[in-house]
Amino acid sequence: MKKRHPETEAIRNQTPRTGENEHSTPVFLTSSFVFDNAEDMRAAFAEENDHNIYSRFSNPTVDEFAHKVARMEGAEAGLATASGMAAVFGTFMAFLESGDHIVSSGSVFGSTHTILTRYMKRWKIDYSYFDINQPETIEGLIKPHTKMLYVETPSNPGLDIVDLEMLGQLARKHKLIFVVDNCFATPVLQRPLSLGADLVIHSATKWMDGQGRVVGGVIAGRKDLVREIYLFIRNTGPSMSPFNAWVLTKSLETLSLRMEKHCSNALALARALQENKHLISVKYPFLETHPHFSIAKKQMSGGGGIVCFELKGGIARGVKFLDALDMLSRTANLGDSRSIASHPSSTTHSKLSEAERLAVGITPGLIRISVGLEHIDDILEDIEQALEKSA
Ligand SMILES: Cc1ncc(COP(=O)(O)O)c(C=O)c1O
Repeated sequence: MKKRHPETEAIRNQTPRTGENEHSTPVFLTSSFVFDNAEDMRAAFAEENDHNIYSRFSNPTVDEFAHKVARMEGAEAGLATASGMAAVFGTFMAFLESGDHIVSSGSVFGSTHTILTRYMKRWKIDYSYFDINQPETIEGLIKPHTKMLYVETPSNPGLDIVDLEMLGQLARKHKLIFVVDNCFATPVLQRPLSLGADLVIHSATKWMDGQGRVVGGVIAGRKDLVREIYLFIRNTGPSMSPFNAWVLTKSLETLSLRMEKHCSNALALARALQENKHLISVKYPFLETHPHFSIAKKQMSGGGGIVCFELKGGIARGVKFLDALDMLSRTANLGDSRSIASHPSSTTHSKLSEAERLAVGITPGLIRISVGLEHIDDILEDIEQALEKSA
């Protein structure tokens, strides 16, 4: 197949036209597919042809979305799931069995943390967390029964970054399946498979959708591994709905353009806030002050759309700051055209102890801004007035 740029794949990798000669791919909103005769149907079930059978197994709109992501990530295969968490859980369950061990970054999304710490032990699957800021300790955590290496970079919400090439070498040396949650970077800014990862996971709910409309997930990577996850998802149920896939496949057409603007707005915001008297610190992958700036520059082509800052005044100030915002949305999602502010200590991570929060970089006054596509002056003005008002 002709090799095209990821931006072109996001637009031109489409389901073949139907007899209606439509330009834009229609949504195939159907739960099942018909066969001309019993022999065709038998052959489809025997996997002797690639006819669609049932939308929990496959659907043209869902496949279009997954193929686009696979091509953008430089992967052999892709698979869409009902949510980002279905992609994470499906990836764990397809490969891990009782007695296995997983080495994961401790700085992972809250629900991934819950799967590892609360549910995996029911199947006697063990885990060890590494400190993303001490990568030299990772190899020491690998045991004879370790099967998977799991990481999120940049991490949510702390924006921690780890060297993917180094992890790829470690995974190869110890024959581990290396999985990267690439949600914060998107395939536009970072392509972990080219740095040694075997599988990449996304919450498509975030930047891929880009307008806060649908929940979805996607996995891309080695064909044999994706096939194993496919069989788990197809049989257990968390497949993506064709409607969600249609929304997401349309969104991919503009992902690279949107990410360019999210990144330029976020960098401008981070720079403008750096000297603000109400803040202890500002964190953004492409700010020279980020502890892993040089790794970010090496493996990402842009810093992404998330900026974090630490307010003076802790949890109480964080709550006041959120209340003082006029334009920015107070909501749990991220990766939207509308800028969003969240305060992890009083909301998403409030059930953790302060020590647990600090261990993954969630300080009391940490504010996470998902920088949208509004004019940067309006975003900055709202944040600056809320900083003044909350003092
Ligand atoms: C890094 C990361 N991974 C996974 C998920 C889970 O995705 P979803 O909410 O689509 O299930 C999220 C959601 O915020 C996330 O930020």
